[in-house]
Amino acid sequence: MADYTIACLPGDGIGPEVVAEARKAVDAAAARFGFGLAWVDYDLGADRWLRTGEALPDTALKELRDADAILLGAVGRPDVPPGVLERGLLLRLRFELDLYVNLRPVKLYPAVASPLAGVGPGDVDLLVVRENTEGVYVGAGGVVHRGGPAEVATETSIETRVGVERCLRYAAARAKERSGRLTLVHKTNVLVHAGDLWRRVAGEVAAEVGVELDYAHADAACLYLVGDPGRFDVIVTDNLFGDILTDLGAAIAGGLGTAASANLNPASSPSLFEPVHGSAPDIAGTGKANPVAAVLSAALLLQHLGERAAAAAVEAGAVAVLQGAAGYSTQALGDRIATAVAGGGAPTT
Ligand code: IPM
Ligand code: MN
Repeated sequence: MADYTIACLPGDGIGPEVVAEARKAVDAAAARFGFGLAWVDYDLGADRWLRTGEALPDTALKELRDADAILLGAVGRPDVPPGVLERGLLLRLRFELDLYVNLRPVKLYPAVASPLAGVGPGDVDLLVVRENTEGVYVGAGGVVHRGGPAEVATETSIETRVGVERCLRYAAARAKERSGRLTLVHKTNVLVHAGDLWRRVAGEVAAEVGVELDYAHADAACLYLVGDPGRFDVIVTDNLFGDILTDLGAAIAGGLGTAASANLNPASSPSLFEPVHGSAPDIAGTGKANPVAAVLSAALLLQHLGERAAAAAVEAGAVAVLQGAAGYSTQALGDRIATAVAGGGAPTT
């Protein structure tokens, strides 16, 4: 009996390889903690687009709306023009399903080396709450006189009171559960219109929820993330700043190998879970991809479904293999994680 239907979109490049390992971990958790899963596969991505011209058919979108959660690997391949799958599949899902929070933990796990001198586990542990449905990502703008000397291109950033407020409310609630500290990151000294909106609403929401509100300009936030990551606990920011800051966040936490993300609509299902890394076509098929980011994303999925014990076991299983992970193939790491999740304890070799 299936308690949850999980739509699976492995996508391109290393996506299918890492998603296969994440599924093993989730299946092991389901068996151990006694819930049933129905996986439904969707072959969306580069192959499908090259074959049919469709990035996300309406029929698939309609079915996805009925899933309890979506697990995605990665999209994009060099033989598909840039933007086609990113906009047509991933961003379309974020927008159509109104996944307005992109939650990206930035956490340095034991046995992972940060490139920052003197920084160890415990020194980097923060959450970035990235607004996920607005900003420059809305695609408002256009081009005239393309290719000519008078060419004009515009890319308009759209921020709404509703969009900013709901994201801030989510971030403030997360901050309240943790340290009670929330940092707004923006660029209010230049982006005076949207910056003013974010600042005012952040002040209102923080006062209402009862969290301490701090502020940093986006450029300074990069400096602080590298120089003093401990000053942050929960960062809330707009879509583009969040995109950039979370790659920097992944870097200080030891790289994209452990960077997980959740695209959430906290009010309704389904939400979408994916590693922060891309499809890495250069290593696709070599067995070199680290499945841990996908497994940790699956842990966020279980957490969102309310399967807390299973989520904790999957996270612990992933963390347990990090020591010496470089010596193992994608599949071998996935097997070791699944064994740990099943209750076999942490691998000893
Ligand atoms: C991310 C990615 C996407 C983004 C791309 C693939 C569209 O970089 O999830 O961070 O810019 O949001
Ligand atoms: Mn990105």
